[in-house]
Amino acid sequence: MAAVVLIGSQWGDEGKGKITDFLAEKANVVVRYQGGNNAGHTVVANGEEFKLHLIPSGILYENKTCVIGNGVVIDPKVLLEELDYLAERGIKTGKLLISSNAQVIMPYHMVLDGLEEEARGEHKIGTTKRGIGPAYMDKASRIGIRIIDLLDKEEFAEKLRRNLVEKNNLFVKVYGKEALKFEDIYETYLGYAERIRPMVTDSSLAIDTSIRAGEKVLFEGAQGTLLDIDHGTYPYVTSSHPIAGGACIGAGVGPTRINRVIGVIKAYTTRVGEGPFPTELLDKTGEEMRANGHEFGTTTGRARRCGWFDAVIARYAARVSGLSDFAVTKLDVLTGLDKLKICVGYRVNEEIITEFPQSQKIFKQCQPVYEELPGWQEDLTHVRRFEDLPKAAQNYVLRIETLTGVPATLVAIGPGREQTIVRGEIF
Ligand code: GDP
Ligand code: IMO
Ligand code: MG
Repeated sequence: MAAVVLIGSQWGDEGKGKITDFLAEKANVVVRYQGGNNAGHTVVANGEEFKLHLIPSGILYENKTCVIGNGVVIDPKVLLEELDYLAERGIKTGKLLISSNAQVIMPYHMVLDGLEEEARGEHKIGTTKRGIGPAYMDKASRIGIRIIDLLDKEEFAEKLRRNLVEKNNLFVKVYGKEALKFEDIYETYLGYAERIRPMVTDSSLAIDTSIRAGEKVLFEGAQGTLLDIDHGTYPYVTSSHPIAGGACIGAGVGPTRINRVIGVIKAYTTRVGEGPFPTELLDKTGEEMRANGHEFGTTTGRARRCGWFDAVIARYAARVSGLSDFAVTKLDVLTGLDKLKICVGYRVNEEIITEFPQSQKIFKQCQPVYEELPGWQEDLTHVRRFEDLPKAAQNYVLRIETLTGVPATLVAIGPGREQTIVRGEIF
């Protein structure tokens, strides 16, 4: 019996898709539990690149059950397009289950996401404009439309009508825009519902049945710890819970069922969108990281901001998710840098702090305190055993372990499935 949660330890894009795909080989079930198509998970399997936004990365193996849990917000159009994209590329998607209680992203959520960002002006969050925040707002306001509502014509009509009254009031009276029409949305979404219907189930029960049967279940987080709505760099966060606890809520499994929590962490740091980032490099080194690591968003194509590894954040991620292991990714990208820096604390108001601060006003003022480590020049992408890495690369990983107290059980040195150094069993 094994249930493993995999999360992002930084600001997203740590390589969760790649590590999920790697671990999925041994899993029976792979579950997405939060977020929506704001996520972009790139997987390179057998030399072919796949970009997934909503469907769990386990889908690339034919015999794995994939689940979209209740905590995910689903844009049905995107879901169906992703299914078509996979089918066109020869991937069988027959074993995909969708929670009847997942919330549906509606057209007005996307419109609102854009209007709210515009209204924020210089305080904009830099969202993906996929309607994620507004969809979670409606969930919390208890007016959201769930997948199960979509499957019931009368229920859907009633809920859509009520929502449109409120949303159209906003569009017309507050934003001076046009109202959305009931008929346009209703017919289109009923069409989506018919395709989705056969996949809809009680996913919490399905997952529980698998765990009880001794199957291996892998929970694939989206986004990252610092984008968590409670524990992240609020308000520059997403509207869900990417930390490990989110798996319990977003999949309907109890915490005692979880055996292990893997934090995927990049060997440096990136961030897309606005918000504080103490180790950000606005110089040539940052540009080199972006170029060597191909740091451009999978979902929006935006250039990712790059900077040094931050051990304060890594320890914070270990704390709030109870990490048992790290999967350190993109170590290969650091090849060629003369000296490497790791942030071990922050200088703020003449003081040095070593814990992630509660106040975002303070976090914004934090100046990184670095320790320096020697770099390496060797290409790492063909290495398969930890002992075969250059000593400086080994020491870099070992230093991360010492600073965080979390073993780096997996080390990735390239995007491919096989470019993963295994230092211990996960499943
Ligand atoms: P995710 O959102 O956490 O799944 O990460 P993304 O897929 O958005 O971004 C990670 C990118 O890095 C993808 O293009 C991966 O193919 C790539 N990648 C993952 N691990 C490694 C690695 O160890 N080395 C290199 N060079 N690329 C990697
Ligand atoms: P994966 O799963 C990186 C960021 C956006 C923005 C903020 C809020 O690929 O790691 P939202 O559209 O969610 O309301 O935007 O969160 N963001 C991500 N950044 N990776 C992601 O997903 C992200 N999903 C959202 O850029 O700053
Ligand atoms: Mg991504």
